[in-house]
Amino acid sequence: YNNGVGRAPPMGWNSWNLFACDINEQLIIETIDAMDSKLKKFGYQYVNIDDCWSLKSNRDPVTNEMIPDPVRFPRGIKFLADYAHSKGLKLGIYSDVGDKTCQGYPGSANHYEIDAKTFAKWEVDYLKLDWCFVDDAIKAEPWKYYGRMSARIKQYWSSHLLLNLQLVGLGVSKPHEWAPKIANSWRTTGDINSSWKSVLEILDLNKPLWKYSGPYAFNDPDMLEVEVDRPPNKLTIDESRTHFTLWCMLNSPLLLGNDIRRLDDQDRKWAKDIITNEEVIAVSQDPFVKQAQLLYETKVGTFNQSGACTSSNCTWIEVWMKPLQKTQTIAVAVYNRAGLNIKDPKFKAESANIIWKSLGLEEDLKLSVRDLWAHSDKGSFQKEYTTDKIAPHDVRLYSMSGSGWNRK
Ligand code: DGJ
Repeated sequence: YNNGVGRAPPMGWNSWNLFACDINEQLIIETIDAMDSKLKKFGYQYVNIDDCWSLKSNRDPVTNEMIPDPVRFPRGIKFLADYAHSKGLKLGIYSDVGDKTCQGYPGSANHYEIDAKTFAKWEVDYLKLDWCFVDDAIKAEPWKYYGRMSARIKQYWSSHLLLNLQLVGLGVSKPHEWAPKIANSWRTTGDINSSWKSVLEILDLNKPLWKYSGPYAFNDPDMLEVEVDRPPNKLTIDESRTHFTLWCMLNSPLLLGNDIRRLDDQDRKWAKDIITNEEVIAVSQDPFVKQAQLLYETKVGTFNQSGACTSSNCTWIEVWMKPLQKTQTIAVAVYNRAGLNIKDPKFKAESANIIWKSLGLEEDLKLSVRDLWAHSDKGSFQKEYTTDKIAPHDVRLYSMSGSGWNRK
């Protein structure tokens, strides 16, 4: 959906994954400040307010507008948008295509016109439009109702707003088939949580969807869980690095969920290192804007339904490929999927072979390989490249380039 903004996946932050409904003006101001001082230079620009920002009980009885909660957002949303803009950043807001938001706040159903006008007046830059309390009519033809809101936004706030649709669950409809015409991104699954299991489930559901992603239109496998500490789950450092890598490969919006005000704390340095690795971010923001495909996997041993190894030992490694803009360059991610339990001794650190043939390339091609996490050139190789040992749930990301081959 080319409305002039967001050719590559949006980068920023959203309040939901860590703060849920516990949000207020102070948090948003401090988050804008943190993004400005710590993350803007890496490309992050959206500070997105999720559910629970408005007055829960009613709209304005005279104008019908939504009212920012007067206690938690005393100076309103326009004030925050102006503040973000004064720092060269952007502000996102949230509503619902149905009657109410998932947390029971006013939704936009029957109010698409006034809400589009209001958001335009507030000069917000991003709208996440959720999928809760939808009646049967909306359920039957979601494209129609999302389409109406999209059209109103275009009318009042033409080229400035990124529209992100929710549609919780692929079972409801196939948003990737129609959403690219009316929105910049669309959710492809239910909600993520900060567990390895959740990351893998969402990854698997997005595997077949690569062809629907392109400039100005992205599958949204949900927001990032790097360093989001929401008990009972928390991703390990390796799992966080893998999650971030794969979301870059998937052309996913890169919306952080952690408390970026505390990013410089000593015990969070690892998270900052992950989310600010410029060579990895460049894979997400690559101007060719192609979503990665799973090319092949190595699965050895026997597994039960919950992914545990039932033979004496097991290996499970996946190799993903994303074509990049620079001709004859690709990004290749290899991760050690192993089992769900990181401590399962039946899974080991493994090296993997990246085989030219399996990438669809001629065997005698010479490719130079660069490790993007480590910022190191590995040399020039023919036929295959063997990675160093990758710990269970950890990842490697390479750029591989050569000459004399054509992209298929
Ligand atoms: C469901 C969405 O999928 C979440 O990301 C979040 O926006 C919640 N609703 C808020 O209620």
